[in-house]
Amino acid sequence: MAYLSPLQTVIVGAARKAARGLVRDFGEVEQLQVSLKGTNDFVSAADIKCERSLHRDLSKARPDFGFLLEEGGTVEGKDKTARWIIDPLDGTTNFLHGIPHFSISIALERDGEIVAGAVYDPVADEMFYAEKGLGAYLNDRRMRVSARRRLDDTVIATGVPYLGRPGHARFLAHVQAVMGATAGVRRMGSAALDLAYVAAGRYDGYWETGLAPWDVAAGVILVREAGGYVTEVEGGNDVVGTGSVLATNDHILKPLGDLLRAAEPSETPP
Ligand code: IPD
Ligand code: CA
Ligand code: CA
Repeated sequence: MAYLSPLQTVIVGAARKAARGLVRDFGEVEQLQVSLKGTNDFVSAADIKCERSLHRDLSKARPDFGFLLEEGGTVEGKDKTARWIIDPLDGTTNFLHGIPHFSISIALERDGEIVAGAVYDPVADEMFYAEKGLGAYLNDRRMRVSARRRLDDTVIATGVPYLGRPGHARFLAHVQAVMGATAGVRRMGSAALDLAYVAAGRYDGYWETGLAPWDVAAGVILVREAGGYVTEVEGGNDVVGTGSVLATNDHILKPLGDLLRAAEPSETPP
């Protein structure tokens, strides 16, 4: 691991510890698949256990900070300027199906700005982390977003809305535009890892809408500290508040953003 600041030591340590239980439970899910009985309950219990471990360790290290937890909701801290934004298991559908692509996502927000974050893929043992002004790292290597300049060379990730989620028609219009203009579109199933992969230069870009703050908060600082840009698909800057995200390098930001904004559904969205 590269040099870790005191704050990074806290975040990375909490993520690694919580991940141990998550990986054990993932092994169990692979067994449970055979019967399918009780798998959903088992996974929500694993999710909650992981969140409690993160909450416990982060409260111990920074007793005054508040929390925004996907499962537990808002926990007010004494210090109103600082809160952790946490998704204990991003990629639940993958986890549930025994697909080894999921992550723990932890961000620290101070005065409304994300100042540090980590996204950890415990199966691949890949720790993506960043702190404002200190750069972004994957394990012990500095990360840099991709340098590709031409849209037709790019691989772009996205998220597909599913049963019960809005925005299907808009998504289809977006994907139709992007698939005709790029070298490939990917949907791996963890928004936090999608952003981490942009930071690592694996994907040249990523867009998705309808996300929650815990899906994107840590990823935002990873991409920015890796030299990339994160905006709303519509062009604004409140990515964490709106859950609309477009992340890429400076060459692709405008062409990809223009492409998405020009693509509107031809029918009324369902
Ligand atoms: C989901 C994942 C997925 C994204 C969904 C999210 P969860 O989070 O990030 O990639 O497409 O919109 O809800 O439910 O696995 O924590
Ligand atoms: Ca999530
Ligand atoms: Ca989750």
